[in-house]
Amino acid sequence: MSNETLTIALSKGRIYKDTLPLLAAASITPVDDPETSRKLILDTNLPEVKLVVIRAADVPTYVQYGAADLGVSGKDVLMEHGGEGIYEPLDLGIARCKLMVAGRPGATETEGRLRVATKFVNTTRRYYAEQGRQVEIIKLYGSMELAPIVGLADCIVDLVDTGNTLRANGLVPLEHIADISSRLVVNKASMKMKSARMKDLIQRLAEAVDQAAAAA
Ligand code: ATP
Ligand code: PRP
Repeated sequence: MSNETLTIALSKGRIYKDTLPLLAAASITPVDDPETSRKLILDTNLPEVKLVVIRAADVPTYVQYGAADLGVSGKDVLMEHGGEGIYEPLDLGIARCKLMVAGRPGATETEGRLRVATKFVNTTRRYYAEQGRQVEIIKLYGSMELAPIVGLADCIVDLVDTGNTLRANGLVPLEHIADISSRLVVNKASMKMKSARMKDLIQRLAEAVDQAAAAA
């Protein structure tokens, strides 16, 4: 996209919904609705600001390679990605949850090698390496809560908010790995090349976050 354009990468669903009010406070409103439109690049009221709507796990990759100048990404996704080529200037305070180990009560109190099912393979490997605990990691793409129930794994590493999904499946939170919220991420090169406009937008979003926090 042109050097004049600022492209912001967002994922559909929860992050899009929670980011909209912050963008609105920064005077940016999308022209199309990603929930109903088939367009992947959405125009906004500002001709020089575009939104790209992609899978949540792809946001850091778009920003890393400069396909998007900015993005909104869960800290869980950023931890898994590793953050190469990316700055993380702002905690947006949205989509808050916790990354946890969960399973049946007492599931991790065994001596042997734990089998852990998760979509957060890198983060899980790092977490257990720091604990010096031997684990076998089984990569899943969703519905992690099913794995301990059907005997695929001893425990899972997954996101927990209300705990309803765990409770509904007879599981409990066992260990806290990280507090999660969504972050504004920016491409390092864009930060240099489009410095004034990037800084202005980050500043306006920071003010929107402060206002939202004060109103809460
Ligand atoms: P995709 O739909 O592309 O597979 P996803 O399922 O990870 O991706 P979402 O469920 O919209 O997408 O989650 C986006 C982000 O929202 C996550 O990366 C996480 O940071 C946060 N999140 C996920 N589940 C919850 C939850 N139950 N409560 C609060 N925040 C959550
Ligand atoms: C996430 C996560 C858990 C669930 C936790 O899933 O993977 O399954 O939310 O939230 P809870 O503790 O409030 O139950 P997903 O985004 O697929 O589910 P959701 O959209 O129904 O929250």
